Amino acid sequence: MLRGKNVVLGVTGGIAAYKACEIISGLKKIGANIDVIMTKSAAEFITPYTFQSLTGNPAILNMFESPKYWDMEHISLAQKSDILLIAPATANIMGKVANGIADDMLTTTIMASNKPVVFAPAMNTKMYENPVVQKNMETLIARGYHIIPPKGGMLACGDEGQGKLQDVTIILEELQKIYQKELKTEKKDLEGLKFLVTAGPTREIIDPVRFLSNHSTGKMGYEIAKAIVKRGGRVTLISGPTSLRAPEGVDLVLVETAEEMFEAVKKAYPQCDILIKSAAVSDYRPKIREAQKVKKESQEEEMQLTLVRNPDILLELGKMKKPGNIHVGFAAETENIVEHGQEKIQKKNLDFIVANDVTEEGAGFAHNTNIVHFIDKNGDHSKTEKVEKSAIAHEILDKVLLLK
Ligand code: PMT
Repeated sequence: MLRGKNVVLGVTGGIAAYKACEIISGLKKIGANIDVIMTKSAAEFITPYTFQSLTGNPAILNMFESPKYWDMEHISLAQKSDILLIAPATANIMGKVANGIADDMLTTTIMASNKPVVFAPAMNTKMYENPVVQKNMETLIARGYHIIPPKGGMLACGDEGQGKLQDVTIILEELQKIYQKELKTEKKDLEGLKFLVTAGPTREIIDPVRFLSNHSTGKMGYEIAKAIVKRGGRVTLISGPTSLRAPEGVDLVLVETAEEMFEAVKKAYPQCDILIKSAAVSDYRPKIREAQKVKKESQEEEMQLTLVRNPDILLELGKMKKPGNIHVGFAAETENIVEHGQEKIQKKNLDFIVANDVTEEGAGFAHNTNIVHFIDKNGDHSKTEKVEKSAIAHEILDKVLLLK
């Protein structure tokens, strides 16, 4: 897939910099052409001559040295490349790119590129877990960059935990998958299709200061909406309360409660061909919505809250489904994932369901990654690895296309 393609390999300063050599030989075996850009600190760990001998191309270190064979190196390399891989990626490079800093050859090339950029981080566990680093990675993902997460193990500094550069074979596999997905998005294979996607939680109001809800952040549904736009489809995104920015190009409808979501979905549904319901809708709401804040009764140790059923939106829409419509449900489960998923397919008249075990590490609520079971109405079943929610989103859309 990367045969004959131009890969720009960015190498930043860390003990794993030597692994870049292994990445180069893997890329060469695939048949890719490689240009290396290294940061100054990478050159403390490994020399440009090593990369030059391995790739057959000059390794670029300094933005201001006389150009080797391009007019404006950072622009030319950004244009020449088919994909950029930054491995190992330090906290520093990810922080710079996430915050728009372009002060050397590598950061300027990344900023000037409209090609897929993939970071394979490697650093000390505590650094990796630092909320600032995590936030920067979230920002990168939200802006369309890709991350191949590090693996766990004994680090060079003696600490044990996540932070080791991912295995080179896995990096190369992921790189090729990302390249293939990006090629697909260039194809605009969803042109002419109209989607209705729901995302996020609902809030069921108790009184003016309290509500019942769940842990959904909307990430899964927003990734689906983003992927649809990228691939040329049209999408109405009906979202419960989240802190996410609406992806560009979607028609966003904000709602709070399950009843509001039901009304919004019923209104948008007739204009759509494909329904994807990733929202975590509360099954019950308080019977009474108090107009004033409920006060603590001094005598009472317990209080009763009476709940009533919310409409099952997906089930109701299943009754309205016409030939040609495609309905995709989600299932958030904690046990018997496949059995429960299959029951929901029948009950809610679905074409397929995306079931996640929300107790599994890296799956379900709030993570940037997910692990899902695809179960279709004929009983076919497959399970994904732990991958970015954006990758799950594209896989869902691939499956939808197969049904068209
Ligand atoms: O938002 P994130 O933080 O990224 O988390 C993603 C997620 C965990 C919310 C998502 O992956 C997921 O599992 N969404 C479905 C959550 C859910 O409500 O599952 P369920 O098994 O309770 O419902 C089954 C299906 O019926 C869902 O498609 C749901 O949208 C729909 N439903 C449920 C109840 C209801 N009253 N109306 C509905 O339409």
